[in-house]
Amino acid sequence: MVFSPNRDVQKYYDKKGSTYDDYSKQLWSRIYDAATWRLTEPYIPKDPAAIVFDAAGGTGKWAIPLAKCGPKVVLGDLSEGMLKTAKEKIAQEGLQQRVEVKECDLRSLDFDDQTFDLVFCEHALCFIKEQETVIKELVRVLKRGCPLLVSGQNRYVLSLSTLQEGNADPAFSVLTQETQFVMRGSLDVYALSPDEFRQILETNGVAVEKIAGKLFTMPLAVSPKQMSSEKYPDTLFRQLLQFEVELSNKADAAALAGHFQAIGYKR
Ligand SMILES: C[S@@+](CC[C@H](N)C(=O)[O-])C[C@H]1O[C@@H](n2cnc3c(N)ncnc32)[C@H](O)[C@@H]1O
Repeated sequence: MVFSPNRDVQKYYDKKGSTYDDYSKQLWSRIYDAATWRLTEPYIPKDPAAIVFDAAGGTGKWAIPLAKCGPKVVLGDLSEGMLKTAKEKIAQEGLQQRVEVKECDLRSLDFDDQTFDLVFCEHALCFIKEQETVIKELVRVLKRGCPLLVSGQNRYVLSLSTLQEGNADPAFSVLTQETQFVMRGSLDVYALSPDEFRQILETNGVAVEKIAGKLFTMPLAVSPKQMSSEKYPDTLFRQLLQFEVELSNKADAAALAGHFQAIGYKR
């Protein structure tokens, strides 16, 4: 199927390519990244012949540590700007033989069926309207019996976070899917409830092992100013991470988290 180009997303991330990694210094991102890595690490194949697809891998934030664990990695993304930074970082790390960088659209991939030993898709599904198409494609290129790790954004928490005093309309629209949440005035965010996420995965051939929550501590619990700060005591980071890890182990707490990490296997 041919899709109309996702120009808004492409343009947004092309501009962000050279500065995107700066977010990693902010407290929320450090917590998010540490929580993501804890959830991901047990599923990374260590065999040097294994191939991981880092789908919408951006600037290589995950492709580089994934490759350092042993497997080959294919990093695919829509944005040239993000991929330019990824290529520079991969070269700096001397990982050109282990990480292949490829421009691609997750809605229509040109890999063969059953190519990858792990498909990892981090913080991208929420920017794509055709979420089910993407899941179908990610499952298609994954080998049978192998893990799929994909993150999604929580409709409930996103909706609650838009509640403004005296006006519940925007929050209600996001909750009832009438309109999308618009991130930083330019990007539509397509959020899911935990049940919606599980259903998309299950109906497209994934046996879901768990849907863990991440970013419980943002945006409702800790002040946005504190969370976007680059200067904070390391004890605060460790305490909040401990809190995150505790809650992400409780399946029924997922609905409280800003994002989800779905982990499943291709049937
Ligand atoms: C928030 S960034 C996440 C990048 C990386 N996964 C990470 O965690 O740092 C979202 C990425 O999704 C990519 N993206 C959005 N829609 C896409 C699509 N249809 N196909 C491929 N990549 C897409 C963007 O270009 C951007 O690099």
